[in-house]
Amino acid sequence: MNLHIYENDTALARGAAGMVADALRSNPTLKLGLPTGSTPLGLYSQLIHLHHTEALSFAQASFFNLDEYVGLPRNHPQSFNTYMHRYLYNFVDANEERIYIPRGWAEDPAEATQEYATLLAQHQPLDLLVLGIGTNGHIGFCEPGTPWDKICCLVELLPETREANARHFAEESQEVPRLAITMGIAAMRQARQVMLLAMGSDKAEIIRQALQEPQTVDLPASALQFHTNFQVLLDQKAAALLQL
Ligand code: PGA
Repeated sequence: MNLHIYENDTALARGAAGMVADALRSNPTLKLGLPTGSTPLGLYSQLIHLHHTEALSFAQASFFNLDEYVGLPRNHPQSFNTYMHRYLYNFVDANEERIYIPRGWAEDPAEATQEYATLLAQHQPLDLLVLGIGTNGHIGFCEPGTPWDKICCLVELLPETREANARHFAEESQEVPRLAITMGIAAMRQARQVMLLAMGSDKAEIIRQALQEPQTVDLPASALQFHTNFQVLLDQKAAALLQL
């Protein structure tokens, strides 16, 4: 594991964007796994900046979203499909034909899960996977207890996750969906390189446990501890409880 500790979230976003840009420049057909949430927003705006100022091109890359809610229309303001277009894809030269997002809007979520599993299996391994972490240790929507041998799964979101995401749904006065489709831990662990990003003191304790306590299925992010190319990018607050 390589630990990168930054003074603040702006520095972290720049550092993360530099790593993604390096990977993309050395392999323009990069297969990238990408998260949603508040954590990667700075990274995405830095990538857009690099696209405009340094002609960083995404044209030949493929994009695999980590997860998607089940039951929201594809273009719902809170769908992850909308999020990814709003914060990244609409502002870079990503090829829409190579943007893959689990079809949480499909009539049959089990079938959509199987379809995404098949797609991931065809494209494995991803070259670079970027992850955030939930305060309960989830990665993607793999909640505590999710088995580690799945490529893709249909999951029930835990109350704390639905509560944490409720702020985004307040405007639509709508409930957070109960189910989601997520890339599974097996697919995540197979990625050639993994970048885990965390910011803020809310994440400090779970980061300590995920990186420095024994691995357990109850803490999904701990699955990455022995990954051979594992880059952990933290701000000082998220790193505060680590024993260095
Ligand atoms: P956040 O969510 O980036 O909004 O903190 C992370 C996650 O739940 O994976």
